[in-house]
Amino acid sequence: MRIGVPAETRPHERRVALVPDGVAKLKKAGCDVLVQRGAGTAAYLTDADYEAAGATLVGTAAEALGADLVLKVQRPTAEEAGQLREGATLVSFLAPAGSADLLSALTGRKVTAFAMELVPRSTKAQSMDALSSQATIAGYKAVLIGADAMGRILPMLTTAAGTLAPAKVFVIGAGVAGLQAIATARRLGGMVSAFDVRSVVREQVQSLGATFVEVAAVEGEGQGGYAKELAEDQQARVVAGIGEHVKGQDLVITTAQIPGRPAPRLITAEAVRAMKPGSVVVDLAGESGGNCELTKFGEAVTVNGVTILSPVNLPAGVPLHSSQMYGRNVLTFVTHLLQDGALQIDLSDPITGPMCVTHAGELRTGKAA
Ligand code: NAI
Repeated sequence: MRIGVPAETRPHERRVALVPDGVAKLKKAGCDVLVQRGAGTAAYLTDADYEAAGATLVGTAAEALGADLVLKVQRPTAEEAGQLREGATLVSFLAPAGSADLLSALTGRKVTAFAMELVPRSTKAQSMDALSSQATIAGYKAVLIGADAMGRILPMLTTAAGTLAPAKVFVIGAGVAGLQAIATARRLGGMVSAFDVRSVVREQVQSLGATFVEVAAVEGEGQGGYAKELAEDQQARVVAGIGEHVKGQDLVITTAQIPGRPAPRLITAEAVRAMKPGSVVVDLAGESGGNCELTKFGEAVTVNGVTILSPVNLPAGVPLHSSQMYGRNVLTFVTHLLQDGALQIDLSDPITGPMCVTHAGELRTGKAA
């Protein structure tokens, strides 16, 4: 079986779907791996690295996209989808909820497509969980870009030039990205507090050395361990509580998301105006509408000296490690599908079934058969 790894083409994407280590493992499993020349360059992985791992370098995207199994990071463009072989298999982030045209192109070509967003959040699938691996990188990087934009440093310093108080960092949403943001801000010396509507994360927050702030007594745990949308009065209490707490904060990282819904609006414009000049909000929920009322996705907004950042695709800014982690997620999933060097697709499997969005010319709901 031939596995293709094309270079990513979406703007600012620097990741690659498979790193040389993954190539070597797939070769060992009996597959040929075709890597487009330069596919890893933006992630600091050279063609020579891939060749040494046993890849066959190909000169064009069409050759990689024409393989039996194609591995990608970003969902294919219309042009890329048109180059997939009829009946091929695709493993990639696909943003299936907002990609109707792509899904119909994939069904038209009878492509079996697996969305990396849909890896079940189960113990068995943990090593395939690309949302988690990339959110980990995003949470880490959010603290760094926030720290870089602040008018102060994070750690407490006692020097001959006086004593600097530690920065106060507040993390909203203690899922995967939020927990990594907490750990990173702590390592940099910040005094960290956090809030989440799922009270089960309280202990995780505390175990990282941060304070869990009860901005309002609500419980928002929904299905599958995810948050659910709060009732209007509860949401109002949360927003008011957060408004009070952010007044004294130097860096606020927001990561709150509700699957399939717009991001909850948690920081009002009024709350931002009450923050200290020189403080920073990093909104990681910008793509789904933002947790802060003033967020402009992909832009930096400054109001009364408070900067609100809404970065696009933070994992792509750490391309080597993001690719290493994503590549491992993809490799583990592909290995799950392989038997004697060939794909054995069992849609009744509790991992394979939920991830499959198109198969044999049909749209699928992403549920196990
Ligand atoms: P996410 O990206 O969907 O949301 C981020 C966080 O925002 C969540 O912790 C959520 O509770 C919180 N949130 C939502 N509305 C909020 C509000 N109004 N105010 C404050 N916080 C709010 O979450 P993520 O990181 O994808 O994790 C979701 C769940 O999946 C968690 O329970 C996590 O522990 C679990 N998980 C399980 C895995 C496994 O078992 N293999 C792997 C990864 C995550």
